[in-house]
Amino acid sequence: MTFLRLEEDLLRARRNAKWKLTDHQVYPAWIAETDYGAPPAVQAAIERLVREMDYGYPVRGAGSMSAHVADQFSRRMAKRFGWQADPATVEVVTSLDQAIAACLLAFTRPGEGVAVHTPCYPPFRWLIEETSRRLHPLPLVETRDGFAPDGDVSLPADVRMLILCNPHNPTGRVLTREELDAVKTLAARHDLVVISDEIHADLTLDGAHIPLASLGGELDERVITLTSASKAFNIPGLRCGVMHFSSPGLQTRFLQTIARSLLGQPNVFGVDATEAAWEQGDDWLAEKQMLLRRNRDRVAEAVSLIPGARMIPGEATYMAWIDLARCSKNRIPYDVLDEAGVRTMSGAMFDPAADGYVRFNFATSEAILDRMLDRMVSAFRR
Ligand SMILES: Cc1ncc(COP(=O)(O)O)c(C=O)c1O
Repeated sequence: MTFLRLEEDLLRARRNAKWKLTDHQVYPAWIAETDYGAPPAVQAAIERLVREMDYGYPVRGAGSMSAHVADQFSRRMAKRFGWQADPATVEVVTSLDQAIAACLLAFTRPGEGVAVHTPCYPPFRWLIEETSRRLHPLPLVETRDGFAPDGDVSLPADVRMLILCNPHNPTGRVLTREELDAVKTLAARHDLVVISDEIHADLTLDGAHIPLASLGGELDERVITLTSASKAFNIPGLRCGVMHFSSPGLQTRFLQTIARSLLGQPNVFGVDATEAAWEQGDDWLAEKQMLLRRNRDRVAEAVSLIPGARMIPGEATYMAWIDLARCSKNRIPYDVLDEAGVRTMSGAMFDPAADGYVRFNFATSEAILDRMLDRMVSAFRR
């Protein structure tokens, strides 16, 4: 096992949001951070920078730092997903939320609609509000395979953009090729620009991720793919992400509104860590995926012990989307769990109508997970 030691006292001493912002008696299963440290190659890359005090204006590869990250991204997409992504149409950002805000400003106008599958990652809603656009919810439907987009929706004329999240946060669903084809048809029918947030693509537990932009055809002029190494390799604090435009024309349209210099420049820790993760982190990642698969199944087993509780095991990510509406005696399940000493995120954050759900982060040690699950099961069986 190459993961960091996961004893509770060591985790509680960390200064990340997950542990630092959680009271001592409470276990954190809320924010999307894992407890597993980072791959040895990432650690070595950071240690080298520190050892050599190499903090000057950095040079990597033959071009700019951004060009270097773009090349790394393109190699990664080819190796992992068989997708030939052109590095020339990449812009590098410090955060995907930043990229989403920039796209909203570039491709929509104030008051226009932005379609989002709900429940959704809360910042999608916040960013749409912050930029004075209007969220048009597309509720996911529960099918035998899990939560899926409704293939047969029609949109009001003012909807100019779709934000897709695949693999999906919070349900963990990975869309099939047929479902992605339906997204493609919808985008073409309504002439939408599509932001495809694929930050969780490396964290599939079952099935395979397909980058939306790889479908091509009518998507060629309309997809911005967002990704980073931050979730899979656990380096969100290092701040390095990628936006890939599916055509030079789309990138030009973007840059007509958003000056490139406003995107900032990636910092040297983020760039070197991302390269190390993508080039040398896959054995570590495979181990992590195995652990997450086991943890997800443990959560599903615990949920099955609570009368009335439901959970469709996700095919990706380290979040479980748990329906506790029928077993919390008219109380908000988040509150019941909070009192029991487990901090989750209330479903209402992802969809105002989903306060009977919680999102439960299971990316911790088996020992801590078991303590959280014991608390959860006894809280709802009382
Ligand atoms: C779907 C999704 N997009 C974006 C982010 C955040 O990315 P960043 O930290 O690069 O802004 C997260 C973090 O949890 C996420 O789940």
